[in-house]
Amino acid sequence: MCGIVGYLGFRDAYPVLIKGLKRLEYRGYDSAGVAIFDGTDIQLSKTKGKVSDLEARANIEIKNNGTMGLGHTRWATHGVPNDVNSHPHYSNSGNLIMIHNGIIENYQSLKKELIKRGYTFKSDTDTEVLVNLIEDIQIKEKHKLGKAVQIALNQVVGAYAIAVFDKTKPNEIVVAKLGSPLAIGVGENEFFIASDASPFIEYTKNAIYLEDEEMAIIRREKGIKVRKIVDDSLIDPYIQELQLNLEQIEKGGFEHFMLKEIYEQPEAILDTFRGRLKADEAIIKMAGVEDNMKRFLNADRIIVVACGTSWHAGLVSEYIFEDLARIPVEVEYASEFRYRNPVITDKDIVIAISQSGETADTLAAIKLAKSKGAFVFGVCNVVGSSIARETHTGAYTHAGPEIGVASTKAFTTQITVLTLMALRLARAKGTITSSEFRHHLIELELIPDKVREVLESNEYIKEIAASYKDSKNFLYLGRGYNFPVALEGALKLKEISYIHAEGYPAAEMKHGPIALIDEFMPVVVIATNKGHYDKIVSNIQEIKSRNGKIIAVVTKGDVDVRNIADHVIEVPETMEALTPMLTTIPLQLLSYHIAVMLGKNVDQPRNLAKAVTVE
Ligand code: F6R
Repeated sequence: MCGIVGYLGFRDAYPVLIKGLKRLEYRGYDSAGVAIFDGTDIQLSKTKGKVSDLEARANIEIKNNGTMGLGHTRWATHGVPNDVNSHPHYSNSGNLIMIHNGIIENYQSLKKELIKRGYTFKSDTDTEVLVNLIEDIQIKEKHKLGKAVQIALNQVVGAYAIAVFDKTKPNEIVVAKLGSPLAIGVGENEFFIASDASPFIEYTKNAIYLEDEEMAIIRREKGIKVRKIVDDSLIDPYIQELQLNLEQIEKGGFEHFMLKEIYEQPEAILDTFRGRLKADEAIIKMAGVEDNMKRFLNADRIIVVACGTSWHAGLVSEYIFEDLARIPVEVEYASEFRYRNPVITDKDIVIAISQSGETADTLAAIKLAKSKGAFVFGVCNVVGSSIARETHTGAYTHAGPEIGVASTKAFTTQITVLTLMALRLARAKGTITSSEFRHHLIELELIPDKVREVLESNEYIKEIAASYKDSKNFLYLGRGYNFPVALEGALKLKEISYIHAEGYPAAEMKHGPIALIDEFMPVVVIATNKGHYDKIVSNIQEIKSRNGKIIAVVTKGDVDVRNIADHVIEVPETMEALTPMLTTIPLQLLSYHIAVMLGKNVDQPRNLAKAVTVE
């Protein structure tokens, strides 16, 4: 996720762009840049860091202003956050300049072709590949910019919202969208381009939201032409009048970032798949795994180190690595591991999981493991973060910035990465057959749509939340793959609503927690139909006979649990190993609604920080 902004009109572009970037910073904040056409040439300024860092630099570097320009705030996907990888990116001739939000999956093969044709690249980004592909088509086939963009995009696999202009045709910006958002603000003799309407809300309330596979050619004085990228057909754009205020726009119309991020999960999981999963060809490709395959295949065991929600994702991975790839796994709290003098050898692989990539305990655990000769693989969300740099290699989750302190989309995308890894290794080791492998991949690819289906239960979950918001304690139970989901559900509730909650493996209930159960105790049970279904039904009966209130997460069509539980929330059927990506969603929503109803600060709960950089 990145933020893009553009302007074409009569005002000085620079202040419009900088203000717009500040409003889009929630979409990414590791680097930023602006490009202004000053009437003769392009003035470019870009830097690693926040928009305020860019402003300090651009105030010196941008010598002349102009009435056309582009700006970008980045959340890195390809290439670490540094000045060179920051957007905008020039084409080789220096005529085209482009900003991009998204991921071009086939950029490596396109890059190879362009290198053969003599193109050179300064950055590691997929964006620089795309702008040069457009230029190549423009030169080779003597097309205008709009046509060249269209032809190029038909060769691209992935997601994008782009804006590009040619300094030799300085009255035109071409934009296009697939998978990433793009809004065009339509003013009086001026046009704005942005990832959402927040950068232009005070200039115009009229906006066109491009649909996927649409592009627009925006011309000074002449207006906007919208076309279908696939077949070039002209579209009559719908100009809508914006009703939302600034804050509502930044939160995508949601009341809180946490809710927005819960709803972003289908897209975030899809982004995690991008360039890695091809179910129809039965392929999983992950560079960090492929490049170290021998090491993975010869590993005695995997040790996962992480904290909090990331630790829960690690626990889910224990099940899947052992179940599918038959590799023994130990999951450690980083804070314990680092002080425990653990036995580690060079045949161990340590997987460090962290959304922020800055958690002090996880970082220290990595350093310790490395000092003892282990190979360390990172699973991080923030590209170029300390943990991403300290590990030998890794895989990014590509969830986009997570602003709400309570982790949601980071968790599901961590599980996605770990599942892809386990399946890839299982196939390489031959611990699953090719048809099992293919079946898993097909099911995995369906998960984003199934998450969307779970999100449809939001209103019902809100009603459940209203019934239990005043409870003083909650118990969360799950078995197998869904035991870590129970832990995560309890953590979500306590951190944002301040209600005491505990997660347990369901069978452990009889060893103590059962004493807590009475008519005032809501018990959230994950009871999907795979694995140990009969056993969990017995556990639910035990709760019922002690008058506990049961909120069950079940597989669609379930009958047995429905007959006993007070409330059932259905999730679509999937393979057991993939259920955590679905069952965790209702628990996130339940916590969210309870916290909102209790008037808590959902996005910034007391005493917590987004990145815990101290011990
Ligand atoms: C819970 C939460 C924390 C983090 C933990 C680790 O919602 O956000 O428990 O999961 O502080 O943070 P990262 O993943 O950044 O290392």
